[in-house]
Parts: sequence; structure tokens; C-alpha cells
Amino acid sequence: MSPYPGELSVPARVLLGPGPSEVHPRVLRAQSAPLVGHLDPFFLDLVNQVKDLLRWVFETENRMTFPVSGTGTAGMESCFANLLEHGDRILVCVNGYFGTRMCDIAVRCGAEVTRIDQEWGKAFEPSAIANALKDNAFKVVSIVHAETSTGVLQPLEEISRLVHDAGSMLLVDTVTSLGGCPVEIDKQNIDATYSGSQKCLSAPPGISPVSFSEMAMDCIRRRKTAVQSFYLDMTLIDKYYGSGRAYHHTAPISSVYGFYEALRLAHEEGLQRRFERHQRNHRALVAGLEAMGLSMHVDASERLWMLNTVQVPEEIDDADLRTQLLTEYGIEIGGGLGDLKGKVMRIGLMGHSSNRRNVTLLLSALSVLLNQRGIKADADTALAAAGEAFES
Ligand SMILES: Cc1ncc(COP(=O)(O)O)c(C=O)c1O
Repeated sequence: MSPYPGELSVPARVLLGPGPSEVHPRVLRAQSAPLVGHLDPFFLDLVNQVKDLLRWVFETENRMTFPVSGTGTAGMESCFANLLEHGDRILVCVNGYFGTRMCDIAVRCGAEVTRIDQEWGKAFEPSAIANALKDNAFKVVSIVHAETSTGVLQPLEEISRLVHDAGSMLLVDTVTSLGGCPVEIDKQNIDATYSGSQKCLSAPPGISPVSFSEMAMDCIRRRKTAVQSFYLDMTLIDKYYGSGRAYHHTAPISSVYGFYEALRLAHEEGLQRRFERHQRNHRALVAGLEAMGLSMHVDASERLWMLNTVQVPEEIDDADLRTQLLTEYGIEIGGGLGDLKGKVMRIGLMGHSSNRRNVTLLLSALSVLLNQRGIKADADTALAAAGEAFES
């Protein structure tokens, strides 16, 4: 008798946390298609289509644009490990948990790291970067576009200009922004970026799209030492996914099927419509939360559309509320990370999860749970405010 008698049975969930987001049934169906070999002409052609679709969503002509096998952190490691050699100087901008992770990875690459910090919940002013660049030569400057830990959107245009005027390369984390708001790699002159499949692109976790500019590729080609990671060495991955088709590792074939279908869904919707949908649902959620008497953590001008940080009222334990939300309503939202633990709750409206039904459901459930805790939160008022925002 097997100690594991039951076939896998997964509870139904509404995914409104910081990722993964909900996955369209077409993506799940694609993932269950029969396997082919990873060097099969069919699969190689599929990877070419994925690369084309990635260039489309990143808004770039970069030849070196790939789906790295691994989650967002693998993409992060591949950008840092390929651009940095021992002793290279990097400026890391930290205004949340993922900026901190960038520092950790840069140190592991043997780089000389200079870190500048901004309050968790605020974007960097270009003047802060200009100050750090004054009298300092950095090979790379890295920054997070959409800080999932705080809900802040980092404007890039002015910073990109400063970084390139100083002769440095710009490395940007677009894990949470890609597919939910404009990323515009070429327009923003971003040299290296990585993202994730499980946020606004709404595929299961496991693929990290990366893209490198010509300047970044040139820097990789001119390295004096081999990239310290065999698995994430872009020149080797280029031979595998590029024209050479030389075996490097066995691509996660089913994940690439699903990712392809998720990208196709995004393409069918169109970037502009997709961005407008994320913005509209975000506005409706915020209108509803504020009508309930809750406060947002980030100023309106710097808020992400796909990740909303709402302050936890002093009288309540947010971990307990989130557990009840999950067990009684099947709704997942996230807690605060690092400095914001216990202070904010993180509500994701990413990709397929960003829809009117989910906003309405969450506002209704939250109002019940807040009222149970003695906080007056009127569902009708919240839903009316959200409804008005949906229609505007
Ligand atoms: C901004 C940001 N960067 C990097 C990561 C790491 O991605 P993963 O957890 O897929 O490895 C995340 C994950 O939430 C993220 O939100």
C-alpha cells in the first residue's frame, strides 16, 4: 500500500499576492502537451518564436534576448555574473528587498559594491544617482524598476541618461513590471535586464526572460575571465538558443510551451490595452481600499499598478487576517517583506489576476474580516468607489 495514496489535488485559490499570478487555462493546456526533445526542430522553432515575442514585450531589437531556465533570481544572477568580473565596480540602488538581493549577488560575483539607499516606499531621485556618479567610475549601475516589496515604480529615463553620460551600463530588474506597464528597453537605453514568467506575464514560475544590449554583449565578449557560472554563461546559452544549437543544458520544455502560450495571450491583447487594464484595476482597488478607510503606503505618483501596498491598521495582526482570507475565501495576498513586515499587506493585480471580479471579491472579503476585528469598513461604500473607478 502506497504511503501516498491520493492523486494530487490542489485547492482552488485566487492569487492576489506578489506572484505567482493566476494562469490562463490555455497556458495550463499548453504545458500538458506531449514532450519533444530539446533539440527537436519543432522545439528550436518554438524557442525562436518565444525570443521574438520577448523582444516584442520588452520593446527591443536586442538579439541577445532569451528565456533563461530558472526563476527571476536566475535571470538576476545571469545579468550580474556575465557583466561583472572580480574587482569591477558597481553602484547598486536599494529601496527595497530586491535591491538588497542585488547587492548580495554582486558581492558574490567578486565586485566592488557601492550601495546607495532610499526609504522603502519611495523612488530614487535622479540627483541621488548623479551624486553617486560624481568622481566615481562604475562599470554598472543597477536598479529595480518595480519594487515588489514596496509597490514603488522607479522612473528610468533621467537615470539612464546620467548613467550613460558617466560611461556606465544600466542593469534593471523588470521582474514585476514586464507585461504590466511599459518597460521599453530600447527607448530607456537599458543594457541588461531580467524578468520572471510568473508575474504580469502570467505563466507558472520557472522561466526568466533576459535581454542584453550590444554594449553589454561587447563587454561580455571582452571579458578576461570566464563567467563564474557555467549554467548562466550567456555566450554558452547563445550557442544553445542561437544559431549553433549546441547542447548546453536540457531546456524545461513544458515550461517553454506554457510560456509561449502566455506570451501569445499578451500579444493578442496588445501592450497598450494590457497596460490600461492593469492601471484601471489598480485605480479601482485603491479607490475601494481608501473608501474603507485604509491608507496606501506609496504616494499616488509613484505607485505600481500591479502591486499595491496597503498599510496595516495598528489594531490588527495582518498575518492572522491573511490566513483567514486564505482559509475562508481561498484568496492569497502577501505580507510585508524585510523592513515592512507587519506594516503593509501586498496585493498583486498581475497579468491574468488583474480583473474586475478579483478586485470586487477582495474588497468584499476584506471588509468582512476588518469588521470582525472592530474596524469599520463598509463594503457597499468600497464597492461603489471601485465601481466608479472602473467606469471612469
Ligand atoms: C522585483 C523582483 N526581483 C526579483 C525577484 C526574484 O524572482 P524569483 O522569486 O522568481 O526568483 C522577485 C520575486 O518576487 C521580484 O519581485
